[in-house]
Amino acid sequence: MAAGKADDARRAAELREQIHYHNRRYHVLASPLLSDAEFDRLVQELLALEAAHPELVTPDSPTRRVGGAPAERFVKVRHPDSILSLGNAFSVDEVRAWHERIARLDERVRTARLVVEPKLDGLTVVLHYERGVFVLGATRGDGEIGEDITGNLRTIRSLPLRVPVAGGKVSAPERLVVRGEALIYRQAFEEMNARLASAGERTYVNARNTASGALRQLDSSLTASRPISLACYAIVEGKGPLPGTQWETLALLRDLGFPTAEGATRCEDLEEAIAICRAAAEHRNSFAFEADGMVIKIDDLALARDLGVVGKDPRAAVAFKFPAQEVTTVLQDIGVAVGRTGVITPYAVLEPVEVGGVTVRQATLHNFDFIRERDIRIGDRVMVKRAGEVIPYVLGSIPDARQGGEKPYRLPSRCPSCNEMLEQVEGEVAVYCVNAACPAQLVRNLEHFASRGAMDIEGLGIKVAELLVQAGLVRDVADVYSLQPASVLELEGFGERGVEKLLAAIDASRRRPLATLLTALGIRGVGETMAADLARAFGDLEALSRARPEELEKVEGVGPSTSTAVRDWFERASNRKLLEKLRRAGVWPRAEAPKAGPGSQALAGLTFVITGTLAGVSREQARARIQEHGGKVASAVSGKTNYLLVGENPGSKVDEARRLGVAQIDLDGLDKLIAGRRG
Ligand code: IVH
Repeated sequence: MAAGKADDARRAAELREQIHYHNRRYHVLASPLLSDAEFDRLVQELLALEAAHPELVTPDSPTRRVGGAPAERFVKVRHPDSILSLGNAFSVDEVRAWHERIARLDERVRTARLVVEPKLDGLTVVLHYERGVFVLGATRGDGEIGEDITGNLRTIRSLPLRVPVAGGKVSAPERLVVRGEALIYRQAFEEMNARLASAGERTYVNARNTASGALRQLDSSLTASRPISLACYAIVEGKGPLPGTQWETLALLRDLGFPTAEGATRCEDLEEAIAICRAAAEHRNSFAFEADGMVIKIDDLALARDLGVVGKDPRAAVAFKFPAQEVTTVLQDIGVAVGRTGVITPYAVLEPVEVGGVTVRQATLHNFDFIRERDIRIGDRVMVKRAGEVIPYVLGSIPDARQGGEKPYRLPSRCPSCNEMLEQVEGEVAVYCVNAACPAQLVRNLEHFASRGAMDIEGLGIKVAELLVQAGLVRDVADVYSLQPASVLELEGFGERGVEKLLAAIDASRRRPLATLLTALGIRGVGETMAADLARAFGDLEALSRARPEELEKVEGVGPSTSTAVRDWFERASNRKLLEKLRRAGVWPRAEAPKAGPGSQALAGLTFVITGTLAGVSREQARARIQEHGGKVASAVSGKTNYLLVGENPGSKVDEARRLGVAQIDLDGLDKLIAGRRG
């Protein structure tokens, strides 16, 4: 297939160009445009092409020399031994394949112990000690020649400037070269950003780039102002007796005063190592540092040496990579969404990008303050994070990638849906559309009304809600009960069967219990639990609508603010009209005896904190849902918090959660979590 071959050659050339370019940005200019995972993908693709067509390999192919040239401004240093890289495994199967491959080369591998360590996402450094004194420190560079950054490394507090050589309990060989990773711990990174922000300075997006950038400063005092730490994991060279295993190497390094990363484990066999990798992938955010995978190493260093090297990778180790969580892409536009309560929130419209097997097109921008504080502009290259159940969010922009055409964002003055002037409530970050007839709010209300926790009308999601409102068929939620088949049939995407199904689902919802209808009405402060309590206490809508505040407050959990919200709701003319329409449509339930049943324990042992306005669900409902499944709800984010449940316009809890590395999820994420832990 000549055409396919020509295409491959063209693609390989293109990839080489791109890899060279990004290598230079990364290694020489210290301002990468791609995340490591994206860069890895380019290299993997080129490697695959070169493997299929060896004749395409050029002498200057970056696959021969991943790492790139050292910057001109630093003195070059030749490493005493090649500073090797690591082969990657993107799945457990690939880990098994790696093990099988090397076991075929050397049978001893089958029974060899392994050491599993976190793969630290920092900058590799090579540290030289002469008679116990730190004399030289270099970057990895291309693996053969690095850059002398001794002055900058000296500013790292955890780097030992002197190690014991003779006399004491442990002693280092006369000449010792150690390999480690310079990195910024999560908490230190967040604290640094908080300090910078309060001084009105630009904050950083990503710990790794900050550490690597700071170590490449010509002025060491700039390096010193960044909270860089060190974690060591190998001895590159040592004159004199050295440990025979990786496990003992880590112990010796620690005894000599080198910092090592927590989280290393010695395993008897591959299965144990894989189990550790799996667990680590699940809890990657509980490491105190950013880890992008786990490194599995043959513990026996003599065996490791015998296994040799392929290309630039030692055969005796493999990196089990976690799925990428951070990628960069272009911010094409900033959209705004109108919530059920009229809250306006900004979201990023992104050039589609794949993160962890999912294509991300939109991400939250938190709130308008975030855009202003981070100076995020339309057209910017932005860093986007998506981790597990967490809603994708923009971490910040990469100003270095600007080309000039980027446009600063202007806060909208009018509602994108109804064009009414927006209002900012004093003392709040939130911006509101206060038009009660705003179609976007109606769409959200209808979506909530029909949702699973409410009237549960199958087929009436946000898309159909939009169509119904746009076509003018629905002006309040009660209108769904008088929809005519002929008018629904005219909506885009509806055939006869679709219309029948939707109307049947709507019809079935007429008989939902009172508590459900109360939840569906979306009265502020009335979630599932409170709706059930109110339904039980008052029996029907008639009685509830006439209830005085003091009667309402007799119900458990109803305080003055909820009782006021309930009263206000029932007094509003539009809502009275709505109730009358519901009554005429036969949607007028009476309370039912509550169903009691053993709850699931899916969330047992997990602590949640809630922030922001949750779409279609009150705080109480969310709290009840968590508690029903055995979870706990706390009011403030702390080290004990497992998840922050985030709605629209979240407050400072989001910053606190980010600082502490607490995962953030939305309602969908919560449902998935419950479903996932039930099975
Ligand atoms: S061992 C022969 N162990 O990951 C030794 N590397 O993607 C090979 N890295 O270049 C490296 N944490 O800079 C090793 N615990 C760890 C590591 C680690 C981070 C880096 C290392 C390497 C890169 C490969």
